[in-house]
Amino acid sequence: MKTYTLALIPGDGIGVDVTDATMDVLDVAAAKFGFALKPTTFPWSCEYYVETGKMMPDDGIEQLRPFDAIYLGAVGWPKTVPDSVSLHGLLLPIRKAFTQYANIRPHRLLPGVEGPLKAEGFDILCIRENTEGEYAGAGGRVHQGQDNEVATEVSIFTRKGVERILRFGFEQARARRKHLTSVTKSNAQKYSMVFWDEMTDKLAADYPDVTVSHMHIDAMAAKMVMAPQDLDVIVASNLFGDILTDLGAAIQGGLGFAASANICPDRSVPSMFEPVHGSAPDIAGQNIANPIAAIWSGAMMLEHLGEKIAAEAILAAIEAATARGIGTRPGASTTDEITAAVKAALEA
Ligand code: NAD
Ligand code: IPM
Ligand code: MN
Repeated sequence: MKTYTLALIPGDGIGVDVTDATMDVLDVAAAKFGFALKPTTFPWSCEYYVETGKMMPDDGIEQLRPFDAIYLGAVGWPKTVPDSVSLHGLLLPIRKAFTQYANIRPHRLLPGVEGPLKAEGFDILCIRENTEGEYAGAGGRVHQGQDNEVATEVSIFTRKGVERILRFGFEQARARRKHLTSVTKSNAQKYSMVFWDEMTDKLAADYPDVTVSHMHIDAMAAKMVMAPQDLDVIVASNLFGDILTDLGAAIQGGLGFAASANICPDRSVPSMFEPVHGSAPDIAGQNIANPIAAIWSGAMMLEHLGEKIAAEAILAAIEAATARGIGTRPGASTTDEITAAVKAALEA
């Protein structure tokens, strides 16, 4: 029997609840489709930081390297650890260290879920650059605390980094409805975003079957609300992709529905799977977090591992549950009820 090793990092807040829910469902899928999952749980979190002064051990990345995949719940507990410390100590270094440059985030309405928009038929795949750009961590502060203080946050866009994410976007578009929208702000940002636009046009020649549009991030934000049904694959920089995918989550009914995969396409190192949402301190520990985003992310992990039929069965089970009204509205079902409904549909 095929066995996949998984590094589980439940993290903070609802990250723990939704990771448990996901593993419950993945175990059912493994039994049904004849493979095994061998999870190892890492307690790395803000609580771990309070105990040890670190978000993960110094050799944390090396500990993760041998696994087939990493599954992460959510990181962040701003009451005890500043976000700038916790995220730069765990989530962001994993994405970078394992060259998980393609962050894939699907946005569509599940059956039975009423989104806030009139549009129902949208199916957007957001491809977010995940290792550089506005998240490069370059910059600094001078004259701290003084009247002449200056803070800089330097975005870094390398030819290699831009080319590989754009090519990834073109490939995804090619496998879908063959339309790619590249999102920039090249009217205001005249170096990095003009470079991104030029690279998009240059690479387009290699994908003649894909039609390409350019949009500015502000116009795209409006488009996702006014006419999301016109969009297919979106490719965007790290920060723009971050913002657009919370918007994508909103139009699909909320953050509890938005799944995500951080992919290293050459598969030389583990990829990481996690919902788009964070640790949601406002609802943590109440058994009301929606685990669907997390379970869907788990399905993306199985697909990446080569278990496509199991992944599709999980998606179908999620849809069977939401079609019955389970988990479709905030507060209507508990985390446990939603998980149980998905498991039951998968077992049926
Ligand atoms: P958040 O995504 O945690 O929550 C935003 C809002 O959405 C909250 O009202 C929350 O209750 C709701 N929500 C989120 N997930 C939900 C779910 N599954 N079911 C129902 N409601 C849900 O964003 P935030 O409040 O800005 O961040 C909280 C913490 O999480 C911060 O420390 C932040 O840095 C961190 N964060 C981590 C990740 C990650 O680990 N990938 C992502 C985003 C935010
Ligand atoms: C996400 C999150 C992270 C990001 C934060 C927590 C650093 O918002 O995965 O969308 O911005 O990438
Ligand atoms: Mn985000």
